[in-house]
Amino acid sequence: MHFQGKSFLTISDFNRKEVEYLIDFAIHLKHLKKNNIPHQYLKGQNIALLFEKSSTRTRAAFTVAANDLGAAPEFLGANDIQLGKKESVQDTAKILGSMFDGIEYRGASQAVVADLAEYSGIPVWNGLTDDWHPTQMIGDFMTIKEAFGTFDGIKLVYCGDGRNNVANSLLVTAAILGVDVTIASPESLFPEKSYIQMAQEFAKESGSAVEITADIHTAVNGANVIYTDVWVSMGEEEHFEERVNLLLPYQVNESLLENVSGDFIFMHCLPAFHDTNTVYGKNVAEEYGIKEMEVTSEVFNADYAKQFEQGENRMHSIKAIMAATNGHLFIPDLK
Ligand code: CP
Ligand code: NVA
Repeated sequence: MHFQGKSFLTISDFNRKEVEYLIDFAIHLKHLKKNNIPHQYLKGQNIALLFEKSSTRTRAAFTVAANDLGAAPEFLGANDIQLGKKESVQDTAKILGSMFDGIEYRGASQAVVADLAEYSGIPVWNGLTDDWHPTQMIGDFMTIKEAFGTFDGIKLVYCGDGRNNVANSLLVTAAILGVDVTIASPESLFPEKSYIQMAQEFAKESGSAVEITADIHTAVNGANVIYTDVWVSMGEEEHFEERVNLLLPYQVNESLLENVSGDFIFMHCLPAFHDTNTVYGKNVAEEYGIKEMEVTSEVFNADYAKQFEQGENRMHSIKAIMAATNGHLFIPDLK
């Protein structure tokens, strides 16, 4: 596969060497940025940032990464353009493709991001759909590589809502990279079969151990990475009560972490509900009597918690993805 001109729609479109390359390139770009070494691989380009769902990190990362690469980003929010409402995705894609050099899309539908790629004729980067969060994976596994120096012998345990975009993406990315991965969640929130099968296929080649379990206490034993995400993803806000009841036993707290032996880091893609300093956090405290959801403040503020490094790495990794797919770089075929 050649990176140039390719879209980044799901992580499963990339093989182990390609994913490793993007991670290592992101680490290199971080070094360039920290040392003020210019890297304007997209000089003169224009990048459209389509956001149908809210974002802090992804929007900020694409904007700063585009600027650092010498490209001009343009934000087109849900209420700014006609996408799918008064103009079809196909027609919008054709117009954007005639003016821009690349498109980021965040929204619910994987079909929309795929259509944008098909009809725009330019690289499209998936900034999160209900199914996948692939750019998050390059930054996350970059953070793991920075922490441990290797993926060999690493075990990642994801605790919580096992069937959201982040859980799906972690399951499959870990399997591609040969990282052992466990999804610990209530049975009703296990990942869909297709994601489990996809991970098992990749694991045959990479040697990764793939496990899906409801037994969280056993699952975290031997973990090097404990990962969680919100219990209620964007677009599912009516499910708070059900999720609080189902997922409280899967909260990442000090008592759970007593079951982990050895060195580990905590990760969270953010935003996180670890206190009542948010509107949703306050409502949940008032209605269900819990002040912390997927992670406690004690864990969130511990030395082993790497979520802010992880957040910064979104920028370096998104830069790597944009530069590799649109920067006309020399990248040998990675098989
Ligand atoms: N992790 C992540 O995608 O953050 P945002 O929703 O703030 O972009
Ligand atoms: N699962 C979360 C991830 C946010 C980055 C959501 O979709 O809201």
